[in-house]
Amino acid sequence: MKISKFLCLIVLSLTTANSAFAADIAKGKELTEKHACTSCHGVDFNKTIDMNTPKLAGQYPDYLYIALKSYQVKGNRIVGRENPIMSGMVGNLSLVDMQNISAYVSQLPGTMKTISQPSFK
Ligand code: HEC
Repeated sequence: MKISKFLCLIVLSLTTANSAFAADIAKGKELTEKHACTSCHGVDFNKTIDMNTPKLAGQYPDYLYIALKSYQVKGNRIVGRENPIMSGMVGNLSLVDMQNISAYVSQLPGTMKTISQPSFK
């Protein structure tokens, strides 16, 4: 009996902890529409306007989140990314906004393909 109570508490604490960090995909979609991200990154973040603009659909959410945060840090060359376009785009986003955007974009079906690795034999 005591053990099952203990297990219940563990399960409860895990689910509570997860829900605290759960990203809101619908909010992420709303933000990308508000900021017209697809005007450059393309329909469904899958067909970009040129070779300098990366495809994003299906990318790992934590990668996207760190990338967005890096554009906010800009001036710092160690952890920041300097890009006038993207730094302007993320200027007003909160950390939660960036998490929601990343969650939305990452679950879009992407057409990125893994390039087969060259053989070094
Ligand atoms: C005016 C065109 C334009 C708009 C609008 C735009 N982007 Fe970008 N985005 C770019 C370009 C160009 C790059 C590549 C910048 C670089 O070289 O670092 C980029 C890079 C990125 C990256 C990094 C991708 C990687 O693989 O490292 C992310 C993430 C991103 N954009 C998300 C967004 C989101 C989210 C929005 C809307 C809030 C947005 N972008 C709006 C042009 C745009």
